[in-house]
Amino acid sequence: MLVSATEMLKKAREGKYAVGQFNINNLEWTKAILLTAQECNSPVILGVSEGAGKYMTGFTTVAAMVAAMDKSLGITVPVALHLDHGSYEGCYKCIKAGFTSIMFDGSHFPIEENIAKTTELVNVAHQLGLSIEAEVGSIGGEEDGVVGMGECADPNECKMIADLGVDFLAAGIGNIHGKYPENWAGLSFETLAAVNEKVGEMPLVLHGGTGIPDDMIKKAISLGVAKINVNTECQLSFQEATRKYIEEGKDQQGKGFDPRKLLNPGFEAIKAKVKEKMELFGSVDKA
Ligand code: 13P
Repeated sequence: MLVSATEMLKKAREGKYAVGQFNINNLEWTKAILLTAQECNSPVILGVSEGAGKYMTGFTTVAAMVAAMDKSLGITVPVALHLDHGSYEGCYKCIKAGFTSIMFDGSHFPIEENIAKTTELVNVAHQLGLSIEAEVGSIGGEEDGVVGMGECADPNECKMIADLGVDFLAAGIGNIHGKYPENWAGLSFETLAAVNEKVGEMPLVLHGGTGIPDDMIKKAISLGVAKINVNTECQLSFQEATRKYIEEGKDQQGKGFDPRKLLNPGFEAIKAKVKEKMELFGSVDKA
């Protein structure tokens, strides 16, 4: 059932669990995540980055595929189709295409511009029944050998953006997209606690879910995180399972070259990873 993410995240925050956002890349990814959510009786958010949207030939194709698949698989758990790290233009494209949720990532703009653009998009999204996520403090990463801790959000800026009426807020707390480097300092719970205190009941979003130790995930949930984004870990699971299939020569046995057979181990690996995360986040049986 396609819905906005507002209600599911309000419930998650109140119930002290988190809903997983799993990014999709193609039909196999989408089917694996939808089926697992249904089997786990868990709400779920399908994340679509602008790059993945382009890869799948545009947001209109993505929205049509997800809506049709949700229906034909008989999915009854709440599913939000969400733009991940959207640009201003990307948000409008997804609104038009039929997404049920958008993220406007204005974290690289000066705060005044982030506020102006977020205000406008909050109004448009809410008029059409979509949920909207905003970001303060950028999510870090490793670039050209320079390891950033990830910029920690300013709790006062978080309050300013939260007060614009966004439905959930991503605050940088030392989290990083992709694999965490050996010397990663860990999540800044001091920042998260300060943000949580400022924004009241606002569900908080933890990006860069790949590789965060389980105890940190649980602590983050206890401090108001109600949405956790996982992307790289599903990619790694898919890659490992596909590599194993080929290295074992299974693609050369019988009809093992059939794409439906070739992609199946990766598909099953994504299902297992999504289930593992739903159990860790506490969203099983919360549909
Ligand atoms: P990872 O790829 O590190 O899991 O991050 C996903 C994410 O935050 C998408 O916005």
